[in-house]
Amino acid sequence: MNIRLALESDIVSINEIYNQSILTGYSTCDTEPIPISERVEWFKNHNPKTHPILVADIDGIIVGWISLSEYRPGRSALAQTVEVSYFIDKNFQNKGIGSQLMDRIIKEAKEIGHKNVFAILLENNERSIALLKNFEFKQWAHLPEVAVLNGSKVGQVYYGLTIKFYTFIDETY
Ligand SMILES: CC(C)(COP(=O)(O)OP(=O)(O)OC[C@H]1O[C@@H](n2cnc3c(N)ncnc32)[C@H](O)[C@@H]1OP(=O)(O)O)[C@@H](O)C(=O)NCCC(=O)NCCS
Repeated sequence: MNIRLALESDIVSINEIYNQSILTGYSTCDTEPIPISERVEWFKNHNPKTHPILVADIDGIIVGWISLSEYRPGRSALAQTVEVSYFIDKNFQNKGIGSQLMDRIIKEAKEIGHKNVFAILLENNERSIALLKNFEFKQWAHLPEVAVLNGSKVGQVYYGLTIKFYTFIDETY
């Protein structure tokens, strides 16, 4: 598997993988598929030097992606705090791909000079929480019952990592 920067030609696969997750009912607060035009805008808003999108590519097939996005764009005091998002193709989950992408993006975040990385997720997304805890993310916030999904109220949680406290196994970091 090759983990590399996303190209424009990956946008369709990235969007398809994201739209799969809407059907789970606990992976995102979007309830309708994202149109490709919106995903193109999102792609353009990610400067690869500061807010990269990485894809997991197996023989030319995109099986997952992870991104760093600006948190409250334009507010320069928050420029070194970024939101991480990650989605794995449903046929390739539970094979360690999410973990490999997370490992890589934390290293990229450090190299770029970001100080904090956080994820926003639904409180019942147990798999995603397990992944974040494996990478030393801690719960930073709980927003109770802020989402309504399939008629039920669900809270959101923020899981954050302060990079200077992260245990990099690879000594070059
Ligand atoms: C969450 C997601 C990114 C994880 O990626 P993945 O490649 O499937 O995860 P990995 O194989 O690297 O496993 C990550 C951890 O989750 C754990 N896990 C797997 N299934 C689980 C479950 N049903 N409940 C709790 N933990 C689970 C694994 O045990 C693993 O921990 P371990 O290494 O200590 O065993 C992926 O499942 C996904 O894309 N889900 C839908 C989209 C989504 O929820 N994205 C996150 C939005 S914030």
